[in-house]
Amino acid sequence: MFKTKKIILITGGSGALGSNIRKLVKCHAPDSKELDITDYKKCVNAVGKYNPDIVIHCAGWTDVLAAEKEKTKCWSVNVSGTENMVRASKGKRFIYISTHYVFDGMTGNYKEDDVPNPVNFYSLTKLIGEAIVVQYQNTLIIRTGFKKDGSWEYEKAFVDQWTCSDFSSERAPDIIKASLMTTLKGVIHISGKRKTIYDLARRTSPNVGKISIESARVKLPRDVSLNSSKWKKLLSKQSRVKK
Ligand SMILES: NC(=O)c1ccc[n+]([C@@H]2O[C@H](COP(=O)([O-])OP(=O)(O)OC[C@H]3O[C@@H](n4cnc5c(N)ncnc54)[C@H](OP(=O)(O)O)[C@@H]3O)[C@@H](O)[C@H]2O)c1
Repeated sequence: MFKTKKIILITGGSGALGSNIRKLVKCHAPDSKELDITDYKKCVNAVGKYNPDIVIHCAGWTDVLAAEKEKTKCWSVNVSGTENMVRASKGKRFIYISTHYVFDGMTGNYKEDDVPNPVNFYSLTKLIGEAIVVQYQNTLIIRTGFKKDGSWEYEKAFVDQWTCSDFSSERAPDIIKASLMTTLKGVIHISGKRKTIYDLARRTSPNVGKISIESARVKLPRDVSLNSSKWKKLLSKQSRVKK
């Protein structure tokens, strides 16, 4: 459990990442009825009520396939919702959970200053969310990848998609650490080791089947592995300071 005197407000607290963050640090996590991020007034009310030092914005439309058909709904959560939340946060430290999917996956090993080039609508909305957040002071954009804990959600997993994802419980501690590093701003990549989605799936579901990315019903980036050396350097600097 992380100990901090900072007051933390989290959106998306019922989600894969948010539920793990809630287990590790004391935070206010209003549900999506009380804090519907598509409603600006509700965002203002929540920030006023909880008076946070830090807002960790995990809420999002995350169904990549459905986003292609439900563009308006995906946009209203990922773009308008993010704008509402960062605006309502009024300069308080704001953490935006972005994704390795902002890249086109042609090369992998992406650094923070590599050029994004989203290949599907979900990824586009996450990148536009970044473009909004970066205009506000005191913000941090975390690009990362993770999957919901537990057994694999599907019968098969991609053998030809490379990722830096781990399970959300493995990613949550670093997200909290970065959120609490109050001088860290801008964009940071936080990820695990490069692996195929199939290898990740086999960790919890050894009998998962194999499938090619070519059979996906939405265009997906092939290699979205992130280069996290900036983050690793920061972590080792922090541990040297504590010794
Ligand atoms: N999963 C990944 O592979 C991945 C990778 C990189 C980055 N991300 C990003 O990380 C964040 C968290 O992802 P996740 O996988 O943990 O998400 P998730 O499990 O799909 O959960 C989504 C969360 O967003 C909330 N939400 C949706 N619409 C909302 C609205 N209008 N107002 C308030 N809350 C709303 C949901 O609340 P209710 O369901 O309770 O309504 C839920 O708590 C997202 O921003 C996502 O884009 C995800």
